[in-house]
Amino acid sequence: MTSIRFDQQVAVVTGAGGGLGRTYALELAARGAAVVVNDLGGNISGDGAGTSMADSVVAEILAAGGKAVANYDSVADSKGADAIIQTALDKFGRVDIVINNAGNLRNAYIDKLSDDDIDSLHSVHLKGSLYVSRAAFHHMKQQGYGRILFTSSAAGVFGNPEQAAYAAAKAGMVGLTNVFGIEGEAHGIKTNTLLPMAASRMAEKMDPAQLQQFAELNATFGNALTPDYITPLVVYLVSRECEANKSIYSAVAGRFAKVVIGLTKGWLGPRDAPASVEDVAAHFADIEDQTVVDEPCSLVDELQIIAKHVRAE
Ligand SMILES: NC(=O)c1ccc[n+]([C@@H]2O[C@H](COP(=O)([O-])OP(=O)(O)OC[C@H]3O[C@@H](n4cnc5c(N)ncnc54)[C@H](O)[C@@H]3O)[C@@H](O)[C@H]2O)c1
Repeated sequence: MTSIRFDQQVAVVTGAGGGLGRTYALELAARGAAVVVNDLGGNISGDGAGTSMADSVVAEILAAGGKAVANYDSVADSKGADAIIQTALDKFGRVDIVINNAGNLRNAYIDKLSDDDIDSLHSVHLKGSLYVSRAAFHHMKQQGYGRILFTSSAAGVFGNPEQAAYAAAKAGMVGLTNVFGIEGEAHGIKTNTLLPMAASRMAEKMDPAQLQQFAELNATFGNALTPDYITPLVVYLVSRECEANKSIYSAVAGRFAKVVIGLTKGWLGPRDAPASVEDVAAHFADIEDQTVVDEPCSLVDELQIIAKHVRAE
């Protein structure tokens, strides 16, 4: 098998000063990419700032003979996001890859979530990912090539207590992937989303009982709940070799899987008048029946699928 390389390509990895992002930056650089190592350098809640996190990863890359430059802007600020992409253009002349990885965490039960928590989580994860990717999209369209990866979470797609705002922002990555995937397709831009799970400093914020569960499962997984077991899928997804688009993948402890969003065939109500509430109640089992499940690839595609079922009846 020929090795997957990134020579002459430029990658931006946000939040690459530690945790998962650091491993992506190191692996991309080791495979020839010039990397913009972005990190705000604050704490896990998203407060504070500093240059040492991004600088230390850049130093690691340079020491290994790779190419990298640090950027300390916040993804949560649209001007900062523009500056992150501008760093790639100024220093390396192009941008081929964006990995939206930067993130903070503030856990609280729904009735204890503050406005500040909600604003902070949505600004960093949801707006930040959109700002940075929007800034890169323009250049990717012009060059007819790009790879964008959003970082979602099992908390957003499957659910987790104490993470309503975080989960909502992370579920938003699915929406971003769908639209970037559709708009980018004609321009050679592929966009996907990752649901990672690995021990990083984010674990500090977890409920002790959940942390204990994690420790037990980690032993079952051969202690593979670490960032480096996530990296291979990430690097493949942003490579020229990967043709996947508009898809969601999960990477946990060396297990890689695709996440699918399906639509049951459902129940077709009367055409001549809207169904009554009682009709819906009577057919709720049909609505839930998963014998036939479609995977619409766009809004229009869902309409086409319904039309197909209507014609078949
Ligand atoms: N670790 C997990 O199990 C897990 C699970 C699901 C999703 N994720 C997601 O993976 C990503 C990486 O998380 P991690 O576990 O490596 O945590 P981490 O805290 O080690 O890394 C996140 C990095 O983002 C940086 N950052 C935070 N806010 C920023 C901002 N506004 N601008 C630029 N940089 C900023 C931080 O300084 C930090 O270095 C996050 O998006 C996180 O939500 C992680």
